[in-house]
Amino acid sequence: MAQLWGGRFTKETDQMVYEFNASIGFDKRLFHEDIEGSVAHVAMLAKQGILTEGERDKIWKGLSEIREEVDGGKLEIDETCEDIHSFVEAELIGRIGDTGKKLHTGRSRNDQVALDMRLYTRKHVARTDALLKELLQVILDVMEENTGTYMPGFTHLQKAQPTTLAHHYGAYFEMFRRDRQRMADIYERMNYCPLGAGALAGTTYPLDREYTASLLGFAGPTLNSMDSVSDRDYLIEFLAALSMVMMHLSRFSEEIIIWNSNEYQFVEIDDAYSTGSSIMPQKKNPDIAELVRGKTGRVYGALLSLLTTMKGIPLAYNKDMQEDKELSFDAMDTVEDCLTLFTGMLRTMKFRQERMAESAMNGFTNATDAADYLVGKGVPFRDAHGIIGRLVLYCVEKGSSIDKLSLEELKGISDKFEADIYAAVSLETCVEKRLTIGGPGPEAMKAVIEKHKAYLAEESMEDYRSGRLAESCGSESGCGQ
Ligand code: ARG
Repeated sequence: MAQLWGGRFTKETDQMVYEFNASIGFDKRLFHEDIEGSVAHVAMLAKQGILTEGERDKIWKGLSEIREEVDGGKLEIDETCEDIHSFVEAELIGRIGDTGKKLHTGRSRNDQVALDMRLYTRKHVARTDALLKELLQVILDVMEENTGTYMPGFTHLQKAQPTTLAHHYGAYFEMFRRDRQRMADIYERMNYCPLGAGALAGTTYPLDREYTASLLGFAGPTLNSMDSVSDRDYLIEFLAALSMVMMHLSRFSEEIIIWNSNEYQFVEIDDAYSTGSSIMPQKKNPDIAELVRGKTGRVYGALLSLLTTMKGIPLAYNKDMQEDKELSFDAMDTVEDCLTLFTGMLRTMKFRQERMAESAMNGFTNATDAADYLVGKGVPFRDAHGIIGRLVLYCVEKGSSIDKLSLEELKGISDKFEADIYAAVSLETCVEKRLTIGGPGPEAMKAVIEKHKAYLAEESMEDYRSGRLAESCGSESGCGQ
């Protein structure tokens, strides 16, 4: 077992203690970030005259060989090491000897792990943003094609008023756009570099923290070394935002499951995104939507877990904080997989437009418009509401609908009804007249769609990152993040 300490100990660590304490099983994921941080750290040490350029180059060469060999499958990460930091350092010393022992000058694993985790999380914030953008594009494509596809809008899962598929999808566009805004906020707030904070109180070496921060594409260094090694707020914020993404995906999944049911038959999920039953040959199940809905729980779990872990930790670093990793990694994986699969499912899902329109026509979704019609004929709204209530009851008893009654029958309920009632309660009129901003009327929808198109054409976080990082990361230092 390779460990970075031991000088002050007289006995070997108990094996179970060692294993319980070790994090390499999961922090090996931070391998690239760890190398990247070390490359920048060494660049700064040499710039400050703490290392010579020759030492810097030797360390860089060693680190880049380790990276290439691990990436190429030639070198395996040794899981008997305590953590990924120990592995990289031990491997470097094994290769280049004493110069390798200078890598950790002016650095602690506390600021090192704080940096690695931040670099990793920052990358996944941008990745989530990019996946959300792909989802938004699919949603917008469906919206564009379906401003005239009628469907019932529901409240209490009861048919309420007619709307369109474009309008319904438009609601999800808003949710996922807000999720992207949260990613941008988090990115901006977390984008400060903790490296140079040392164990907790900085170091006496003349480190140039501004320089390291800029090499790694950060907006600047963090400003309090105790906070730098103890802060996991950014991760909690990210988990909260990921929980929100999952909550949105889960609601959407729930709707798709309902729409895909035998009773609704509004949609057909593509064969590639459905599964069958081992016993019932007729089954085509919406498992992807169900799994997305189900996996929401584990992402919420990660958020609650880290909030709870952090709540009683005194300043500065404590080992409890090693618990920030496993569930966060799991949450990031889960959300990225869910977004990818959900977007694929949505892209290939077919709509049964006639069934949706037929459903919108039944269930008295035009009852509000019928009441509004009477208001137009001078009846106060509250009275109109009562008249249409009686009309609906009459229809229910007769097994009919408002638009199918004869004018005589309608006049039997109120003499205010004229022949123009039929046009007033048609599905087309009900939807097309709803032109307030945010409503389903096709003209209102088209204006919103244009705004969405302009929004999706804007530079995304990943474009911005690659530009900024190319600028800040000297190619010779090979940051590559
Ligand atoms: N594996 C540790 C973690 O994830 C690295 C930091 C160790 N620092 C220490 N003082 N033991 O938090």
